[in-house]
Amino acid sequence: MKRAVQPQTGRPPAFAYRQLSTGIFRLRSAQSLLHCDSVPLSRIAERFGTPLYVYSASAVRERLRAFDRAFRNIPHTICYSVKANSNLSILRLLGKMGCGFDVVSGGELERVLRVEKPAAKKVVFSGVGKTSEEMNAALKARILLFNVESESELWMLAECAARLRQRARVALRVNPDVPADTHPYISTGLHEHKFGIPIREARKLYAQASGSKYLQVSGVSVHIGSQITEVEPFGQAIGRVADLVDQLLADGHNIEYVDAGGGLGIDYKGHSSRNLSEYVSAYAGVLLRPLRRLKVHLLLEPGRCIIGPAGALLTRVLYRKTNGKRKFLVVDAAMNDMLRPSLYNAYHQIVPVREPTERSSETVDVVGPICESGDFFARNRQLPIANEGDLLAILDAGAYGMALASNYNSRPRPAELLVEGKSVKLIRRRERIEDLLRSEMT
Ligand code: LLP
Repeated sequence: MKRAVQPQTGRPPAFAYRQLSTGIFRLRSAQSLLHCDSVPLSRIAERFGTPLYVYSASAVRERLRAFDRAFRNIPHTICYSVKANSNLSILRLLGKMGCGFDVVSGGELERVLRVEKPAAKKVVFSGVGKTSEEMNAALKARILLFNVESESELWMLAECAARLRQRARVALRVNPDVPADTHPYISTGLHEHKFGIPIREARKLYAQASGSKYLQVSGVSVHIGSQITEVEPFGQAIGRVADLVDQLLADGHNIEYVDAGGGLGIDYKGHSSRNLSEYVSAYAGVLLRPLRRLKVHLLLEPGRCIIGPAGALLTRVLYRKTNGKRKFLVVDAAMNDMLRPSLYNAYHQIVPVREPTERSSETVDVVGPICESGDFFARNRQLPIANEGDLLAILDAGAYGMALASNYNSRPRPAELLVEGKSVKLIRRRERIEDLLRSEMT
């Protein structure tokens, strides 16, 4: 039977309405404003402009700790998936908490090394198309593990390691052929996907790998997709991995690591009443069941679940307009700033920064200024009436928000802020037009 575990974003206290206090006097009649920790979002929007990404450091910490707690009964390392949000300050925050990192490019590796050089020994390198330059950089940094995805890649890695006279620790990323209910673009665990090595063929390749003196067979890795909110598919996949580990041990390999990948989803609709600890514990439960009999160190690669609900995108309503019966709020953020709704038809809650007092609402499309009909954040959405100049917050935008931002329509990318309690830190300044033009020639 399918047991749907409803995730909980843990939005409060990171993003919650609170009354504005002025000095020691609290205005009883004052309207409530959406805050990030103790900072009213309207204040930072005025100071730093919009569109603006805002993250709560305490939410990030709380979410990482929830993972750590849930897996306390097994030796483990959480390798935060850098692709979800690669801001250096976010990486530093996580690195200082002892987090490892999952990288998929030389660029991501460089980011990790910039902020936390010793963290290299907790880096896993995933991805189907690592170049020899990227492999060399990772070997020189002496990362923990290469998650290899094909036979050709395996031999390329052996060649790079031989040239550097090193031994690369490898895991094969196996494709377990487990379906998971998510958007087709971010499902990865089926044979029809480009990812991993079919689990049935893995044993042969492990045998070949162990014949190279420059490769050290060390683990098995798996990743079945992203934004998966039912835990059973993770359990199924790891069950198949555990069976493979049994066989590999019998074949004489030393399998120290099982990398369970990332993919645990979040509750974008905000429907759930289940708390984060329960949710992550349910996830830990299905992973640990098949692993318990094995003496392995578990690696986890969560991205979205750590940083998604810890961030919001602030935007201001530029114009209201009506085309026939359809009402539009044209806001100053666009698909270049946050692509998820356009690319995956993803749902993000949108809430006014000033808590609405009257109950009047309307059905609107929230759209950006870009010249494509796909440039929207919400369609046919029932929202409290917003006027021109009002601030809106697009919630759960911490993961794959800024990370997917582009300069489409020659729009500079937003600034990013990290809030902790009352303190506000600019962690990336707003891009300027000159930044966009700098690397081009006339
Ligand atoms: N490990 C591997 C090997 C991955 O490919 C991914 C995500 C992760 C870990 C982290 O997954 P997470 O815990 O964040 O779900 N842009 C899409 C998501 C793409 C995910 C790609 N791989 C989105 O906005 O929904």
